[in-house]
Amino acid sequence: MTTEEILQKPELEHSDLIYLLGLTSKEDTNLLKELAYNIMIKNCGEQVYLRGLIEFSNYCVNDCYYCGIRKSNKNVERYTLSEEEIINSAKWCADSGYGSIVLQSGERSDDKFIELVLNLVKSIKSSTISEKLPDGLGITLCVGEQTEDTYRRFYDAGAHRYLLRIESSSKDLYQQLHPEYQSWEKRVECLKSLKRIGFQVGTGVMIGFPNQTYEHLANDIKFFRDMDIDMIGMGPYIVHNQTPMYEYSEIYNDKQKKQEIYQLALRMIAVTRIYLKDVNIASTTALQAMYAMGREAGLMFGANVIMPLLTPTDVREQYQLYEGKPCLDEFSSDCFECIQHRIESTGRKVGLDLWGDSKHFVNKSVTIS
Ligand code: 5AD
Repeated sequence: MTTEEILQKPELEHSDLIYLLGLTSKEDTNLLKELAYNIMIKNCGEQVYLRGLIEFSNYCVNDCYYCGIRKSNKNVERYTLSEEEIINSAKWCADSGYGSIVLQSGERSDDKFIELVLNLVKSIKSSTISEKLPDGLGITLCVGEQTEDTYRRFYDAGAHRYLLRIESSSKDLYQQLHPEYQSWEKRVECLKSLKRIGFQVGTGVMIGFPNQTYEHLANDIKFFRDMDIDMIGMGPYIVHNQTPMYEYSEIYNDKQKKQEIYQLALRMIAVTRIYLKDVNIASTTALQAMYAMGREAGLMFGANVIMPLLTPTDVREQYQLYEGKPCLDEFSSDCFECIQHRIESTGRKVGLDLWGDSKHFVNKSVTIS
């Protein structure tokens, strides 16, 4: 079968996913991109939703082998922003037209941390209610593995979306990326808890890390479907020199290898869009770290969400999960203008003052009620 014929199939099979992830020619890749783009416009509309990303703390109890803020990295200066600083960033967001924010941090589950998150969610909700945002800012949390009870408290406080990447749907690969005490099963249980509670749930994987194959990536996409995931965030794996996985740096700092991973990340977005249709898919900062126009490219391959960085400039450098993080010395207001221009340059509209919920989630709710 030709690529064109595969793309016309009403249902893609496992072998089709693998075939599409492995496309190399420019013509074939363009066909894939066009179909993904059309499916996105049809199912999600042409708006690109914004989530202001506030990386409010880089303390972390985990030790992921790829991540620059892992607890064993003693070179990182640890910080937690003050409540006032975080709430002010959120208010700035609401005033500027962002309908939603993501509160992200390294992982902790002590009482003090949970109280901080609860206070933040409540204060941000109550202080951002206005005529244009009658229910306040949409709040997405990305603060790692917690108990179901804690997740419920976060939800009751007013957070309604949660991001927790599975990193790989293969248990074997997951264990290669993490120390033994961080278990794949636990992560899956957390995703299930989040769903039970009623969160819109986001997950995702890193693309292109050692030993990962197209087969694994095809399984990742099916995992998203089987878990009934609402939002996806995926990006290329990028080396960080203060992590155990730096041992692969020779391979990963090679120009051609980087180019291949970048292209694969774009195809992964497109194939996920074609297979899942109405989920929200983020065009992630890691794409931009690899290639200056990477996030715009992600939008052309079927992504419909962008998460501009709102972390105060003075701590951005301390939140480097990978090397080459862009916009380290820019102010939030500059990022906002820049992002609007970048989105409009792709012919899309910016979804201002909107929560921009996943259509997948909304469609389900309509069917149920
Ligand atoms: N390269 C790419 N992505 C990374 N992340 C963490 N470290 C890296 C890296 N070196 C991603 C993980 C995590 C998310 C917050 O950032 O997927 O879930």
